[in-house]
Amino acid sequence: MMTRVPVSFTPSQLRRTPTIYERTWRRIQRKWSHLTEQQQQELSAMYHRELVADERRFVHVSDRHPRFADSGLITDEMQSDIKMYLENDDHVLWLKSQGLKGPPIYRGLPMFKTAYDHAVYPMLIAEVRPRTIIEVGTGYGASALWMADQMHLQNIVGHVHTYDINPPTNVSHPRVTFHAGDANNVSSTWPTDVLVNFPHPWVLVCDHHKNIYGTAIHFLKHMQDGDYIVMEDLMGGRTRIEWVQFLRDHAKECPIDTKYTDFFGVNMMCAYDGIIRITLNEMPQ
Ligand SMILES: C[S@@+](CC[C@H](N)C(=O)[O-])C[C@H]1O[C@@H](n2cnc3c(N)ncnc32)[C@H](O)[C@@H]1O
Repeated sequence: MMTRVPVSFTPSQLRRTPTIYERTWRRIQRKWSHLTEQQQQELSAMYHRELVADERRFVHVSDRHPRFADSGLITDEMQSDIKMYLENDDHVLWLKSQGLKGPPIYRGLPMFKTAYDHAVYPMLIAEVRPRTIIEVGTGYGASALWMADQMHLQNIVGHVHTYDINPPTNVSHPRVTFHAGDANNVSSTWPTDVLVNFPHPWVLVCDHHKNIYGTAIHFLKHMQDGDYIVMEDLMGGRTRIEWVQFLRDHAKECPIDTKYTDFFGVNMMCAYDGIIRITLNEMPQ
């Protein structure tokens, strides 16, 4: 007899479908039933690490890292908590997730995204339904093509504007405009009269690793409630400090969306503490 395979799921079915992680976790819990409550708690903490530390979806940077709660400048020592990620096994998995012997290839071009990003970005795009994606740091152009294709596949009428100091010359796509632009000169690269013509919602994807504070603050001035910023690859050093400083200085408008940053584990994708939803009204639930 042929097994009937369901071809579509209702949202409530999807919510009820446990992941391999959840199923394994339940099995492990059953095996631990003979242990004391304290032993179970310790093992549970080991199993989840920091994964379930905060179950709220939108959090401020200081909820996630209490040492950033005070005002003042973020220093190198203060961001030492990032070492927690760098030293655990998850980080090794993370390092491997952009390919061991080369980056993933999309439409014949190297694309500098982790395996996790391949799942997270389409979900983010599906939820935000951006009419404009602004990418800073085009690279070979693969990520711009991929995001434009994602919009097309999900019936979203939108356009990608991608900027690089050294834009590729041999790539084209009907939904992508390639621009030359320098994030060190934000007001000449993105003057107000250009940005006002980009329809919202926006997803701003920064993958250029330069002038992080200046880029974020420039775009923030033009952003609306529900727009998103994705700030990639800021795991340490000066760029990480600039990003955390920005998040702290604009905590109210810039909560981290942990649904996406932590989908596969805390910061288990390209944007460390780096997916934020612009929140000008009520904090979303
Ligand atoms: C990691 S690559 C981008 C990869 C691409 N987004 C992807 O996912 O395949 C970083 C890019 O940032 C660009 N870049 C570096 N400094 C920049 C700046 N000041 N303004 C704009 N782009 C810059 C580099 O030329 C490089 O192409």
